[in-house]
Amino acid sequence: MKNRNHFTRRNFLALLPASAFCLANVSHSAMLQAENTSEMNNTSQLNAFCPGELWYDNNNVPINAHGGGMLYHEGRYYWFGEHKIEGDAGNYAQVGVHCYSSTDLYHWQDEGIALKVSENPKSDIAKGCILERPKVIYCAKTKKFVMWFHLEVGQNYSSARSGVAVADSVTGPYRFIESKRINAGFWPQNAPGQFKEPLHPEETEYLKKLSLHGGPVLGYPRDMIFRRDFFGGQMARDMTLFVDDDGKAYHIYSSEENGVLHVAQLSDDYLSHNGSWVRIFPGRFHEAPAIFKKDGKYYLFSSGCTGWAPNAARVSVADSIMGEWKELGNPCRGSEEDKNLTFRSQSTYVIPVIGKENTFIFMADRWNPKNAIDGRYVWLPIQFDADGTPYLEWKDSWSY
Ligand code: GAL
Repeated sequence: MKNRNHFTRRNFLALLPASAFCLANVSHSAMLQAENTSEMNNTSQLNAFCPGELWYDNNNVPINAHGGGMLYHEGRYYWFGEHKIEGDAGNYAQVGVHCYSSTDLYHWQDEGIALKVSENPKSDIAKGCILERPKVIYCAKTKKFVMWFHLEVGQNYSSARSGVAVADSVTGPYRFIESKRINAGFWPQNAPGQFKEPLHPEETEYLKKLSLHGGPVLGYPRDMIFRRDFFGGQMARDMTLFVDDDGKAYHIYSSEENGVLHVAQLSDDYLSHNGSWVRIFPGRFHEAPAIFKKDGKYYLFSSGCTGWAPNAARVSVADSIMGEWKELGNPCRGSEEDKNLTFRSQSTYVIPVIGKENTFIFMADRWNPKNAIDGRYVWLPIQFDADGTPYLEWKDSWSY
């Protein structure tokens, strides 16, 4: 069923002060007047991005696509993201992956649920699981649309699996294929020889004593966890996908209890991993990867690891997607809060604006774990210094 558990616009109007409406959109009094007389389609007025404000689809329902990503295909953008419901229950997947489409990135048409969670409690993607940060890419070779996502089977973050689903048509329905840990039996390309062996018994004992909870830990063993997981496959939580100009696709994800990012190449059909992968920034605890390519260089936005709470973003650069990667520091400019909390948001994707040279949009989530459906979208223009370093500044409203 489409749009169930959504707040209606009327609910939101009752809850929000006038200042909550985007200035570039329509005045509050005009909105109230329209509310009293007839149904007004907010989106028809929208000509700007209004970070953190409510954003409506063609049915006047707030867009529900969190931790999202974008695919441009045959003249349309497709936004895929986590469909959330009200309250704490919304932090678990109750519905699935929602898809919207647009020709201009301002006006969004609801395309429904592209991948539904399963009613079968035995399914990996059973209703109530944790299914986060879905991303979709198009495989020109097979003419299929491939969706990858972070999956936790059940309601805690211990399984750290990757799920994959496939569709013949961009909006779905997507058919769930499997979920698993990644690249079992393959060593990372950039690990020195002495690390290419499973853990010794004393290392296993050391690891057992640590409380690895997904955030920085004193004595974090920067070169042990991928060896522990050599046989069973690597952990993967926050993630994104990237298709390079040569058609090769990559999965970039937080691994090793979130302490290390991995860049792993996908197979030619994008449905599995091909065993070629590297570890980057060991011990730096990057999450929320969002990558783009400009003038032959790869740039990666990411966050630190503080759960739903925002922290300071990071931006990194590389000449080759498999590294060497170099951290460039915090890309945010503005007040201390803007810099320390990334405008109270966490990256999820970078959108290249098609047909506009060097125009990229930083796409982030302002999470609201107490009322998950009311998480907001923070989209900001990526600006560049004279030396090409990307940076971000707050804008109340803006257009590309
Ligand atoms: C965040 C992560 C989200 C979600 C959350 C759960 O750090 O980026 O996708 O997993 O933690 O606490």
